[in-house]
Amino acid sequence: MTTRPLVLQTEALDLPARQWLAERAEVLETPFSTPGAMDPHLPRVEALVVRTYTRVDQALLDKAPRLRAVGRAGVGLDNIDVAACRARGVQVVYTPDANSSAVVELVFATLLDHLRPRTTLRHALDDAAWAKARKDLVAPRQLETLTIGILGLGRVGSRIARAATALNMRALYNDLLDIPADARHHATPVPLDDLLAQSDILTLHIDGRPSNRRFIDAARLARLKPDAVFVNMSRGMVVDHTALAEFLRRNPAAHAILDVHDPEPIAADNPLLPLPNARLLPHLGAATAQAHTNMSWVVRDVWRILAGEPPQFPAP
Ligand code: 3PG
Repeated sequence: MTTRPLVLQTEALDLPARQWLAERAEVLETPFSTPGAMDPHLPRVEALVVRTYTRVDQALLDKAPRLRAVGRAGVGLDNIDVAACRARGVQVVYTPDANSSAVVELVFATLLDHLRPRTTLRHALDDAAWAKARKDLVAPRQLETLTIGILGLGRVGSRIARAATALNMRALYNDLLDIPADARHHATPVPLDDLLAQSDILTLHIDGRPSNRRFIDAARLARLKPDAVFVNMSRGMVVDHTALAEFLRRNPAAHAILDVHDPEPIAADNPLLPLPNARLLPHLGAATAQAHTNMSWVVRDVWRILAGEPPQFPAP
């Protein structure tokens, strides 16, 4: 009897993908949240399947001499020391576009929650109450009159540009890369300072590489309009949250929508928690059934590696 390779699954995956992998490998659930759960299996493990909260670092690699593959169900690789994996010959794979549309939906859903007041009627209204509801629920700002600034015109940012310009918004962007005109979706490149100063809505779509830590700091926040809507659905560490809290306190007409935090879960002393103009969400960007399915099929690439085949989506 041949032994099947051992794969540790440390975070939730869709059942069909998990079952598919379990038909080929021995799959054990070792939740990242249970300290030491992986430890007894590390000497034998050949692949890991993780999401956002499992740290794959040198210390773990040192305990897993047979490890060959790390599958990141999702796009962010900031929890994985890809260089250390590579140095050890461990291949890292991910699902780069699995949740881009889900993030875009959440950006627009939460923007419209903020910009477009509305109610749901549960009972009859008399003439006066009807007229009052219609008067009270007038949105001060309509999307097509606004400029959206997109920091990072990558997989998510470019979809934001496409959606925004389809809604007749003016879209500006700033990106490290020189993006060809036909991939800009009618967004206009501008220097970072102009992006910050001209945006009615600023939305961040940069990654969690170490050089992006606190990229949005007090000086950059100071360039924003006093009624700017600030959206972060990328990584919590790219924003200085103390400086953002100070900006929001000083500018009560400004509003922040934050899906990602540093640390997660949110700590009790997070300065944004008590602010009426900050809306905090529990990292829901990828929270659609479709995105979860897309992400979970990272197991295909994990299996390709275990079977000695080239993976489709190696980590960059
Ligand atoms: C990602 O990096 O893909 C997202 O942050 C998804 O995170 P989640 O799988 O933990 O929801």
